[in-house]
Order: sequence, then C-alpha cells, then structure tokens
Amino acid sequence: VELYDVMRTTFAARAFADEPVPDAALLRILEHARFAPSGGNRQPWRVVVVRERSTREALIPLIAPTMQRYVAQEQAGEQPWNTINPTRLSAAEIAAAPVPNALIRTVTEAPVLLLVFADLAYVASFDSELDRIGVISGASIYPFVWNILLAARNEGLGGTLTTFAAAGESAVQALVGVPAHFAFSALLPIGRPLRQLTKLTRKPVADFVRLERWDGPALGS
Ligand SMILES: Cc1cc2nc3c(=O)[nH]c(=O)nc-3n(C[C@H](O)[C@H](O)[C@H](O)COP(=O)(O)O)c2cc1C
Repeated sequence: VELYDVMRTTFAARAFADEPVPDAALLRILEHARFAPSGGNRQPWRVVVVRERSTREALIPLIAPTMQRYVAQEQAGEQPWNTINPTRLSAAEIAAAPVPNALIRTVTEAPVLLLVFADLAYVASFDSELDRIGVISGASIYPFVWNILLAARNEGLGGTLTTFAAAGESAVQALVGVPAHFAFSALLPIGRPLRQLTKLTRKPVADFVRLERWDGPALGS
C-alpha cells in the first residue's frame, strides 16, 4: 500500500479473527519498528509479549477502575482523566458508573498482546521541571509504538494503541515482572482485523495549523 494511504487508513482495530499471530510475524514487525527515533537515540523500549490466559484475565481488573472513571466523567460532561480540568465527581459517583468490561475484553482477548515499557533511567525528560504534566518522555516511546502498528498493517495485521492500563502501572509491572523504572507505555492488542476501515474521522488541517502565530491565518486558507 502507498504510504499516504497507510497513514490515512491505519485505524484502531479491536475486533480480530480467531487466528494466532506467530512469533515470526512479531519478529518481523519489531525488526522494522526498532528504527523509530528516540531522544538521544536511547531506544528506551522494552516489550513483553503476552498470550497466557491468566495474564489476560489479570489485566481486566487493573483496567476496570480507570474505565469506570472514564465513563463516569463522560456521562457528567467532563474531559476524562484531564489534568487541566480535574474531575468534580466524588468517589461514590464514579463507583456508581458502569464498568465497560466488554470493551476491555475486546482488547485483552486479541490473539496477542504487546506490553510496551519505557526505561525512564534513559529518557531525557526536558519538560520535567515545568509545572504541568510531562509529555516529552512519551515522545521517546510512541514513535516506536506507532511503528509497531504500521508494521503490523504491512503484515495484514492490525491493533490499537491503548493506554488504559497505565493507572494500574505497578500492578501491571508486578504481573509480568517489570522493574519499577520501566514506565508502562502501551498495551497493543494485535491480530488480523475482522474488517478494514478506510474512512477515518479527523479534523481538517485548517482547524489546527496557523501561520507564524497562534492567531495567524490557517494554513491553506
Ligand atoms: C495515546 C492514545 C491512547 C489510547 N488509549 C486507548 C485505550 O486506552 N483504549 C482504547 O480502546 N483505545 C485507546 N486509544 C485508541 C483511540 O481511541 C483511537 O486511536 C482513536 O479513537 C482513533 O480511532 P480510529 O483510528 O479507528 O479512527 C488510544 C489512542 C492513543 C493515541
């Protein structure tokens, strides 16, 4: 497939054929994904491949509270898990929301799960002293993560970048034996998608690009 077509059509696949994904396919994917950029070329990524049923089952209760709060906040008209606009909901209001276990299971029951961790002992976090949530550390791991999904596409496979296990990070680390300074970065369900979406919903360029200044003219206007 042509690169621009790939960029426009690589969607978040969560429904997969009941076919195994062999290690040989994962090896080809990761063999190409490893050429991703990272700060100082430190390549802080580590990947744990999960197929064990007991590990998948153990992930569900680690994700559930995060998604319960997500649902509660959405229902209340809030931006879920946002740091600029923190939740006004009480613990009781959050506990009353439904837990979307079916959505969580679509992810944890994929043919294979890749757990991606970033070694924080290597990452240069240039925004670590700013008075806001850090985003720069993630920039050393998510190009690699996205490369995995692009390479999976090239193998006729697909997946989704999910982060909803992050709030349960210490339990995820304990579950698969990861040391504490390896930050949980993504859980990628991978498999053969049941269908291929070709029309993704995204904002037009004019909505988010301005020339020279924040209040400058839109690019392309
Ligand atoms: C940083 C990030 C975090 C995400 N976290 C989750 C998640 O926790 N669970 C999930 O099901 N999807 C997750 N997604 C997938 C998004 O929902 C998906 O990329 C987006 O809705 C676009 O979907 P589309 O490409 O099919 O249009 C995440 C995506 C990104 C980039």
